[in-house]
Amino acid sequence: MLISVSPNAETFHLRNRFFSYIMTVMENGQMENLYFGKAVHERPSFAYLHEEGLHGMSAFNAPEPSRLCLSFARQEYPSYGTSDFRCPAFEIEQRNGSRISAFKFRSYEIIPGKPSLAPLPAATMESDAEGETLILKLADDATDMTLYLFYTIYADLPILTRSAKFELNGGTPVTLTRALSMSLDLPDMAYEMMTFTGAWGRERSVRTRKLDHGVQANFSMRGSSSAEMNPFFILKRPETTEHQGEALGFNIVYSGSHLGQVECTSDGTTRVLTGIHPDNFSWRLTPGESFQTPEAILGYSGDGLNGLSRAFHDLIRTRIVRGVWRDRPRPILINNWEATGMNFDEALILKIAEKAKDVGVELFVLDDGWFGARNDEHAGLGDWVANTDKLPGGIKGLSEKIEAMGLKFGLWIEPEMVNKDSDLYRAHPDWILSAPNRFQSHGRFQYVLDFSRKEVVDQVHSQIAKVIREAKISYIKWDSNRYITECYSNGSAPEDQGKTFHKHILGIYDLYTRLTAEFPEILFESCSSGGARYDLGMLCFAPQTWTSDNTDGYERQRIQYGTSYGYPLSSIGAHVSAVPNHQTGRLVPLSTRANVAYFGTFGYELDLNRLSADEIEKVKDQVKFMKANRELIHRGDFYRLISPFEGNETGWIVVGKDKKKALAGFYQCLNNANAGWLRFRLAGLDPNRKYRVALRVDVDPRYLAPFIPGLDRLLATLNQSAELYGDELMYAGLPLNRMLFVIQGCDFTSLLIELEAIE
Ligand code: GLA
Repeated sequence: MLISVSPNAETFHLRNRFFSYIMTVMENGQMENLYFGKAVHERPSFAYLHEEGLHGMSAFNAPEPSRLCLSFARQEYPSYGTSDFRCPAFEIEQRNGSRISAFKFRSYEIIPGKPSLAPLPAATMESDAEGETLILKLADDATDMTLYLFYTIYADLPILTRSAKFELNGGTPVTLTRALSMSLDLPDMAYEMMTFTGAWGRERSVRTRKLDHGVQANFSMRGSSSAEMNPFFILKRPETTEHQGEALGFNIVYSGSHLGQVECTSDGTTRVLTGIHPDNFSWRLTPGESFQTPEAILGYSGDGLNGLSRAFHDLIRTRIVRGVWRDRPRPILINNWEATGMNFDEALILKIAEKAKDVGVELFVLDDGWFGARNDEHAGLGDWVANTDKLPGGIKGLSEKIEAMGLKFGLWIEPEMVNKDSDLYRAHPDWILSAPNRFQSHGRFQYVLDFSRKEVVDQVHSQIAKVIREAKISYIKWDSNRYITECYSNGSAPEDQGKTFHKHILGIYDLYTRLTAEFPEILFESCSSGGARYDLGMLCFAPQTWTSDNTDGYERQRIQYGTSYGYPLSSIGAHVSAVPNHQTGRLVPLSTRANVAYFGTFGYELDLNRLSADEIEKVKDQVKFMKANRELIHRGDFYRLISPFEGNETGWIVVGKDKKKALAGFYQCLNNANAGWLRFRLAGLDPNRKYRVALRVDVDPRYLAPFIPGLDRLLATLNQSAELYGDELMYAGLPLNRMLFVIQGCDFTSLLIELEAIE
């Protein structure tokens, strides 16, 4: 039993082996949070955890002589203005102009499993035995509204999911001007907040700040989860490290504008809010209507940041990602974007594909430029019909030729966008999001189609489904290359414009739902100018995300390291591209480019015909290596070891769930003269097992000349595998001579360590 209810049916204790979450009904009928943290024993009452208002300026929200001051009470889903002055979880504007509300507990229900939130995506359960859901029913009599608070606890994951649903039963219409997915009040503020911020080409940098009085926010108002502030954030204790200590993680299953906010009071308490960003959101309800918030995901770790990441990785890999590709080995792909841009014809594409087939690649992906009048960024988006000047046999013809080679075929689309130079726009100029009589901001010469309108989604769906039905398509890369401006729908009433952002996101989910239902065998990868829409909403439909347009083997270490806090390796699209790198101009050796890309869903983003014979041999070896290791990489436990945000080096390891195999990566930015030895301490291994340790390092043959003292001996040890216990590898560490990096002949070097249990 995961949810206990006190004998008076007022206190609820959600508990698994990882955490306890305890709440109760306060004397004013509203819900109070008593505890969220490491699992504690069940007891008849936790009333001793209640705190009351003591000082002179307090207002009290229950009949005298009550001391129930909501500013002090740790609440479940608070409102503003009835003795709590913090930022609330929701606000309801009523016909009489009042925004005051008071939802009081009425009843509860505990159900096995987890209800669907469709049409919103949400975490799933495979069977009702995996967890339980508590549904609290509260009512606000003055507005004739019901509020349902949903809490789902998994038996075997340190994860709690939450959401809220408002129903207007009768009376007069109301407007929700704020409806966040959850609020969590914590009794102290001794936390650091970690956020994952960035921009195009440098997504999900790790930022850590000490909480302070006032509000600190992590948000997007771009109509997208954004490259700038990913919706995932962490509160950790100052003493928490990667390997030990307490950390709480927060995310939402949503792809639109979001707000993650942490407010600390002068009394030293903390309120965490997350959900749809309230600015530019308002949702009018008429009697009989309801509004369901997106789902919030809370993770708890008593085992440091790596423990928190593993909780999210396991949830996402197994219960966010769904469909046949959840458990299938992910194909090694080649994408033509960096090789050709939009400037290609069928012969060139077939030449790239043939070479890819030779080296063992499994899937060819045709990127932007295959449709309409799409020869550059100015035209074509919206017209999802093959450009037969470039591809005489259309997508059908090309995909058949690629399949005949023994490769699978994948296709790029950007369904939410339109160029003004397109047949779609010429036929329906009012189908873009744009405010009447206002300038229409453009981005990459494109405009955002109004997916809050069903007829728009229907039209795009019919075009894209036709292409897929006619051709042999195994993979779709779904892009979205600009944020939303002038978010106004020409298909909605003025009083419903506050719904447009959210309805647009629901339209995107609708299209995804239709396409994934009709084509369940297709592997989807989401993309948004790289990683600008890396979120749990997308991952419910697309198991992989193109992590960043930045394919530089050095900067990718940071991007993938930052991404790994909240998202599993099986979701991290990572490709080897050409040098000089398109985004940085940097020359990173081929071995390091691959050694970074292995820790994701692997592929190539270049024209293999331009590589030397020697490089092609290396690529063949890389493909073979990834095929042999992808199961381990995509399903194992990942541990960050050395942060690229802190110095010259990066280290990480992935360990199989059974701890029989592991693969560690070590990367060095700049070489240093005479830098001596380093101890690379691993993690996650079985301390009592002996492992065979093999280094995989790409030595530059020019260094084989014995002009570096001791080099001969060092090289001789390279091919020898050692046998060491897990405890030695984790506590004593693996001594690596830094000459290993010098003899690779350049900067940005790396090595892999393969571990296999031998007893
Ligand atoms: C975006 C994507 C790239 C590529 C281009 C095509 O920038 O992130 O990978 O698909 O669009 O226009």
